[in-house]
Amino acid sequence: MKNILDCTGHKLKILNILDSNGVYLFDAQGKRYMDLESGIWCTSLGHKNVRINNVIKKQLDSIMHAGFCYSSEIVDNAAKSILSVTGLKNGRCVFLSSGSEAVEILRQAARHSVKTPKTLVLHNAELGAYDSLTDRKHGWYGFEWKNCEECTDSIICDLHSEALNNIPEDVTEFIFEPGSDAGLVGFPPKALIQKIASLVRSNGGKIIANEVTTGIGRTGKWFGYQHYDIKPDMIALGKGIGNGYPVSVAVFSENTTSELDTFKYSQSHQNDPMGAAVANEVINIIKDRDLIKDAARKGKIFISQLKSLERSNIKIRGRGLMFAIDFMNEKTAEKIYSELIESGYIVCNRGSFLRIDPPLTITEDEYGEFITTLSSIVDREMIFT
Ligand SMILES: Cc1ncc(COP(=O)(O)O)c(C=O)c1O
Repeated sequence: MKNILDCTGHKLKILNILDSNGVYLFDAQGKRYMDLESGIWCTSLGHKNVRINNVIKKQLDSIMHAGFCYSSEIVDNAAKSILSVTGLKNGRCVFLSSGSEAVEILRQAARHSVKTPKTLVLHNAELGAYDSLTDRKHGWYGFEWKNCEECTDSIICDLHSEALNNIPEDVTEFIFEPGSDAGLVGFPPKALIQKIASLVRSNGGKIIANEVTTGIGRTGKWFGYQHYDIKPDMIALGKGIGNGYPVSVAVFSENTTSELDTFKYSQSHQNDPMGAAVANEVINIIKDRDLIKDAARKGKIFISQLKSLERSNIKIRGRGLMFAIDFMNEKTAEKIYSELIESGYIVCNRGSFLRIDPPLTITEDEYGEFITTLSSIVDREMIFT
C-alpha cells in the first residue's frame, strides 16, 4: 500500500482482500475471515448482499447522481421510508455520504440563527472526522458520564445528580450517541438521559440522536434512542443504512423543519438517487426479513454465550448485536485480537477492549463457531491470570 497515505490511526492487518460473501471476507490466498466488525459497523446485512447489489446495478443503468436543481422520485420515496421507521412522521430527510456529514448538518441546523451556540455531549462521544466535531475547546460542554452501578433506569446517583446542576442553560443541542459510547459499547442509564434531554429541551435546545452506529437494528430496536423513551428532534444515520455503500441521512422532525426556512447547506453528493436507492433497499430488506426482532432474539443468545467467558478479569457488556469484552489489560486484548485474526476472525480492538458487531444476518452457527475459537484462545492466553 505504498501509494496510500496511512492516516487512519489503525494498523493494516490484512492487505489483500479480494472477495466477500455474507459474514466472510476472502484474501488473495483464499483465506477466509469472519467479519465480526461488519466493516466498522457498516455492512450490517452482510457483504455482497444480492438485493443491495441488484439495486445498485439497476440504479447505475438509470441515474446515479443528478445535482442540486434536479431530482428523482426515488429520493423522495426513500425519505418517506426512512421517516416511517424513525417515528419522525411529517419530517424531512437529507441524504449525504458519511456519518460525519449527517452529524455536521444536524449540528449546524440546530444552532441555525443562534448567536452563541453550545453543544452538549457525553464526555468522549464520537461524532465524526471533522474539526468542527472533534475540536471541542469552545462552545462545547462534555457531561462526565461514568458507568455507574448505582444508577438504574429510574434512579440517578448522587454524583450524576450533582453533575446535572452544572449543565449550562444555553445548550443549543444535546448530541446523544445511544449506546455505542465512542465504540466501546456503554449504556448511559435511562433516567439520566431522560433528565438531560428534558433539561436541554426545557431551555429551548434540540435533541440529536446520533444513530450512525446504533441505528438500523444494531441494538435490537430500529434505533438506539428507543431504549431511552425519548423523542429526538433530529436523527443522524450512517454506516448500516448503506450496507457498505457511502450514504448517510440527516433526519429532521416536522417541528425543526419549520424553523429552517433560511438554513443553507449544500454538498455535491446531497440527495443522490444512488445512495437513496440503497438506503431504501436496506430498510426493505430489514422489514422483509424481520431483522430487528431477529437481532434482539440473537442478541440475547449471543450475550449469554459471551458471558460464559466472564471472570474477575474479563467483563462483558452488550445490547442487541453489539458487544464489548473488557480484558482489563491492553496487552492481553491485543494478543487475543491478533490470535483471532490469525484464526480467521475479525473483531475490533480498542485499548483493553474487543468489540464485536456482526452483521444482523449472521447465523447462530456462524456465531457459535466464533465463540468456540474465542473460548479456546481466551483459555490458552489467560491460563495463568
Ligand atoms: C458514533 C459515530 N458517529 C459518527 C461517526 C462518523 O461516521 P463516518 O465515519 O461515516 O463519517 C462515527 C464513525 O465511526 C461514529 O462511530
